[in-house]
Amino acid sequence: MTLKTVKKVAGLNGAIKVPGDKSISHRAVMFGAIANGTTTVEGFLPGEDCLSTISCFKKLGVHIEQAGEKVKIEGKGWDGLEEPSEILDVGNSGTTTRLMLGILATRPFHSVLIGDDSIAKRPMARVTDPLREMGAEIDGRNEGNFTPLSVRGGSTKGIHFQSKVASAQVKSAILLAGLQSEGTTSVSEPALSRDHTERMLEAYGVTVKRDGLTVSVEGGQALTAQHIVVPGDVSSAAFFLVAAAIVPNSRVTLEGVGLNPTRSGIIDVLEKMGASMEIRNEKMVGGEPIGDITISTSELQGIEISGDLIPRLIDEIPVIAVLATQAKGKTVIKDAEELKVKETNRIDTVVSELSKLGANIKATEDGMIIEGMTSLHGGAVSSYGDHRIGMAMAIAGLISEGEVAIERSEAIAVSYPSFFEHIAKLENK
Ligand code: S3P
Repeated sequence: MTLKTVKKVAGLNGAIKVPGDKSISHRAVMFGAIANGTTTVEGFLPGEDCLSTISCFKKLGVHIEQAGEKVKIEGKGWDGLEEPSEILDVGNSGTTTRLMLGILATRPFHSVLIGDDSIAKRPMARVTDPLREMGAEIDGRNEGNFTPLSVRGGSTKGIHFQSKVASAQVKSAILLAGLQSEGTTSVSEPALSRDHTERMLEAYGVTVKRDGLTVSVEGGQALTAQHIVVPGDVSSAAFFLVAAAIVPNSRVTLEGVGLNPTRSGIIDVLEKMGASMEIRNEKMVGGEPIGDITISTSELQGIEISGDLIPRLIDEIPVIAVLATQAKGKTVIKDAEELKVKETNRIDTVVSELSKLGANIKATEDGMIIEGMTSLHGGAVSSYGDHRIGMAMAIAGLISEGEVAIERSEAIAVSYPSFFEHIAKLENK
């Protein structure tokens, strides 16, 4: 366990290129593994979660070479996947677990999935129930809700699934199974979740039909190998967008950030709160919009964050809570129950750890209420093994009077291994 101490800085200035998008990096490898031919990936995120995906697909018999941000995957099509002789360890990664379940559901062999303590608490029935309805045999603790999970895939039939939650992991798992199932498979969700699967499947030559909140695919579709360029992760950029907005004397440019509208809720929030921000060099890369974002120290106003906006910024809520402590008035976050089933219960961990630093924050049933502006003080906090909690606490440390000591800070390597180097690069010396 690593203890990291963060101190107040005089300002943040300069430019950084944030690491590759985590969701897109996972999909690039997984889709490359089931495609026919050699897929190459550029801008891959070499974070622990995406490395778990690579290691699982290697155990499924796929030849993969990875060196930093470059990956080569020798896909041999759906039938190229082989029964693994070892347990598939998903580490801390929910995306690896749920999307891989969708792929394994149609493979005629047996496999076992296991992960860390956090994964063991995350609900999988939202994926295993519909996959079982399609015909896959899946079992595990709590009737297939928790890891370890065992899968025996086979011949599956398409379903029309109405998801109770706006979840890209649920949507993707079912669509992936649908590609190798009989007939049509469709998924409808209550609000639009991130659409990287739909965009990337199309890039791999698959026909995906979209109609409002419903996506459908026909069974029997193969994927063709591609060259994938991964945009910068807006969820990683979010930490520095917030940092530059709240640290005095700051002006930071984040280069090549993914601006997919299903992910860009943080930009809407910063604009609504009054941040001084500019987006330049907008273009498309591999079917995804990207741009450079420049943001300076800003006077901020509290707002309400709710409804369809929530899935567009769900992973950014820990750092948005830090932002709200420096905004005038009240920020209310609601309709965000999904926070309870992330790497930690993020309503509890955000509220408990920010309270330790003097924030005026309280938990509600479906979110939290933050009263600004508060001057934060130093203290001892923990990431509880959750990368985004660790990074949110570090950003709070940049404006706190007194040191913020973050226990279990090693968790940050799950999605942003160069996080502290980037702080050091931007910090006014
Ligand atoms: C992800 C989807 C989101 C997000 C997670 C990554 C993905 O989860 O919170 O960090 O890559 O599809 P849900 O799909 O469960 O909402």
